[in-house]
Amino acid sequence: MNFHTRKWVKPEDLNPNGTLFGGSLLRWIDEEAAIYAITQLDNQRVVTKFMSEINFVSSARQGDIIELGMTATHFGRTSITLRCEVRNKITRKSILTVEKMVFVNLDEKGEPAPHGRTQIRYAEEAFASYRESARQVPQVPVAVEDERVAARVEADSLH
Ligand SMILES: CC(C)(COP(=O)(O)OP(=O)(O)OC[C@H]1O[C@@H](n2cnc3c(N)ncnc32)[C@H](O)[C@@H]1OP(=O)(O)O)[C@@H](O)C(=O)NCCC(=O)NCCS
Repeated sequence: MNFHTRKWVKPEDLNPNGTLFGGSLLRWIDEEAAIYAITQLDNQRVVTKFMSEINFVSSARQGDIIELGMTATHFGRTSITLRCEVRNKITRKSILTVEKMVFVNLDEKGEPAPHGRTQIRYAEEAFASYRESARQVPQVPVAVEDERVAARVEADSLH
């Protein structure tokens, strides 16, 4: 398992008990896992389908450094299954493991699509390939995004 990402636990990441808020950690895990999945599958249209139960076995405090590790455990037809572990670099304890996270590869219509991958590609190779495919995804033009934001602001102001 590769531990690529480290996080520094800051005041905004804490719960009222003064320890790392589970919601912050889950957001980091989902993002890290999504990056892993899109680089493995060469596709930005990948969504979280399933996460197995999560057992927080230890925590972290402000100022601690934690690291997130991911590995692919199964390549399906349209899905990829990952295992995740989070460790506290300061206490040297495991914080949690997620045995199974499933991501589904989608086509332009948002339907599950075969990805054709069967084995893990390591970081450099995965990113080299991803760089090419990332350029092919149409970006939302700024003017369109501005209109969407303006529409949302107007709708919110009506409530
Ligand atoms: C992802 C989505 C398109 C899949 O639709 P679906 O009808 O379940 O698709 P399928 O039944 O064809 O399954 C697709 C893959 O997911 C797997 N899968 C489906 N349900 C699963 C479950 N409960 N647990 C694990 N894997 C599951 C299937 O085995 C299949 O994988 P495979 O092709 O490698 O065998 C649909 O469920 C969806 O849009 N969900 C919302 C996703 C989302 O918004 N996520 C949060 C934000 S990223």
